[in-house]
Amino acid sequence: MAYETIIVEVEDHIALVKLNRPDAMNALNGQLLTELADAMKAAQANDKVRCIVLTGSEKAFAAGADIKMMSDKTYTEVLTEDLFGPEIDEVKRVRKPIIAAVAGYALGGGCELAMLCDFIIAADNAKFGQPEVNLGVMAGIGGTQRLTRAIGKAKAMDMNLTGRFMDAEEAERSGLVSRIVPAKKLMEEAMGAAAKIAEKSMISVMLIKEAVDKSFEVPLSEGLLIERRMFHSLFATEDQKEGMAAFIDKRTPQFRDK
Ligand code: HXC
Repeated sequence: MAYETIIVEVEDHIALVKLNRPDAMNALNGQLLTELADAMKAAQANDKVRCIVLTGSEKAFAAGADIKMMSDKTYTEVLTEDLFGPEIDEVKRVRKPIIAAVAGYALGGGCELAMLCDFIIAADNAKFGQPEVNLGVMAGIGGTQRLTRAIGKAKAMDMNLTGRFMDAEEAERSGLVSRIVPAKKLMEEAMGAAAKIAEKSMISVMLIKEAVDKSFEVPLSEGLLIERRMFHSLFATEDQKEGMAAFIDKRTPQFRDK
């Protein structure tokens, strides 16, 4: 598929996916989400890709779903087409790690898309918000659910009910983002984190992602059992033998995803 609203580059085992609708602050429309879903599916299928970085521009990661595209839609239309559902589900299906590198605005669907990634690295100019309430609607792809799990009820209610923005400092303090870096260093930091992940065994990386995600879905005892059994299962891999032997031999492990 030839993309018009995103740019994808694959280099050194990292797929860099850049949202690219500069005239609309990277607002998410049907085309962008279809292209994003396709790119994510391709990155998952591409053996060369070991980690994905999703980013926007210096001004905006994404300023939300495209309001101009949505404004005339009827209830029947959004319900029957399941607006944004299938594309977002495709991103969620990706088993390789996805890092969101966020500079500027991550609002509404933009904030939700960032939260759909496995962790967020923020530039110091990043601003997060769920301002849908200002439009007479509400969050629709995780702003009341993932945000609440990430930062707790008080702040999630505040953000969703008032529509206020949160700066990078507050986002880090609240647990929404894992790191803040100067805007100029954002891509270096995100690509560096991706490169670190790309060095590991894909088998443990994919199981770690699955296990952490499970923690939001199942009771603690179940989650702990899943984790322990996954841990046990890794002893069936050559990478476990290699990783532990390399530690003992004081050398760098050569993982082969086996
Ligand atoms: C469509 C958008 C847009 C959006 C910005 N633009 N956000 N177009 N949808 N979400 C467009 C503007 O219309 C404008 O186009 C251009 O981008 C630049 O934006 P400005 O507003 O002129 O820039 P600025 O004054 O710097 O303000 C930036 C901003 C503001 C704070 C990000 O644009 C803003 O508040 N945007 C809307 C944020 C929002 O409400 N997001 C939630 C959307 S609902 P023109 O052509 O005029 O130059 C949502 C639902 C998700 O996300 C759930 C789905 C199921």
